[in-house]
Amino acid sequence: MTQDKKVNDMLTQMRTAVDTARAVTSAAMPAAGSGKLGAAPSAPASSMSALNKPAETTHSRALLLLINELMAGVETRFGIKPGTLVERKLVRIFKDMPMETLRDWVESMNNCSPDHSEWQSLVENLTVHETYFCRDPDLMNMLGDEIMPHLLNLRKTQKQLQIWSAASSTGEEVYDLTFSALRAMQKAGYARLFEGKLVPEAGWGVFSFGTDISNQALRTAKAAVYGDLGMGSFRNLPDDWKMMFEDVKIAPANAVPGVNYFKIREWVRQCTRFERFNLMNNRPPVMGMDLVFCRNVLIYFEDPVKKAVQTMLARAMSPGGVLVLGASVQMLVPAYFESRLGKGGPWYVRNDTRV
Ligand SMILES: C[S@@+](CC[C@H](N)C(=O)[O-])C[C@H]1O[C@@H](n2cnc3c(N)ncnc32)[C@H](O)[C@@H]1O
Repeated sequence: MTQDKKVNDMLTQMRTAVDTARAVTSAAMPAAGSGKLGAAPSAPASSMSALNKPAETTHSRALLLLINELMAGVETRFGIKPGTLVERKLVRIFKDMPMETLRDWVESMNNCSPDHSEWQSLVENLTVHETYFCRDPDLMNMLGDEIMPHLLNLRKTQKQLQIWSAASSTGEEVYDLTFSALRAMQKAGYARLFEGKLVPEAGWGVFSFGTDISNQALRTAKAAVYGDLGMGSFRNLPDDWKMMFEDVKIAPANAVPGVNYFKIREWVRQCTRFERFNLMNNRPPVMGMDLVFCRNVLIYFEDPVKKAVQTMLARAMSPGGVLVLGASVQMLVPAYFESRLGKGGPWYVRNDTRV
């Protein structure tokens, strides 16, 4: 067997391991809102392995060290701390493999950048893409009633709203934010309803940018087609959100029987753009943002990483712009923001302190 073949075989086994562990973890975790799986906060290393038993051998200790090294590589490159179940599963999968081969593979991974395809495959498996339209109704109401009026007032001269969903997964949040902006503009008299579309008045515009580490998620976001399968994208869709969608027919080969598919309408899609971006990068992909959402991702990161990401987000924002992190994530860079507490949780207004 060539070295490449060995590495490929191991990677395949690893992906299967991660997938299985994911399924196990999802089943064991509470449903929506908590995030799914393998990327859930992990237990301390001492509680982590079936190997920490009296019969522990030199081989098993070395194996555990290698797996920890790999997991540390994930955390350094992507911020995600893989969970205990993933680690246990990997131990089981790799325990009969020649240590030398495994060591070579982990070493070769260590020398690769986060953009390398091997890391990308691994991160596709380790990331949680759970999301849906109007995910947090209280937050969405606060967005429409408090945040959007603040932003429209801020931008009444420039007449442009620039929005960034950092970790947008399959795109639902980006379309929510765009639709919410257009509705707020209509309420303020800056957009009107014309032939079923919300059309900005002359000079006004919305630009919404979605980024994620997962190419798979970004593909779905760009296609903007969602099925009404069970607890999917539409589990929480309010009636007045429905004008954003049109029915669409999917080729039978790609469709799940019995599922109806809906596509985001062109008048919303044309305000959006999606790109791959790793939150660990300290240079933002866009500047001058008025509204930044970074929800349900920092919960998987340790505090120093959260702080670095929040600093990067502050760098991307204009003074007066608003950052939303979700209720469970603490603001760790208060020097750049003023805190507000609304009916749907905390939001942060960027001050003019330079980052
Ligand atoms: C649970 S989803 C959250 C989606 C959406 N923000 C929401 O609240 O519904 C988390 C997303 O974070 C992405 N992610 C994880 N680590 C990342 C990183 N280092 N850089 C960019 N995106 C990352 C995952 O790929 C996943 O799509």
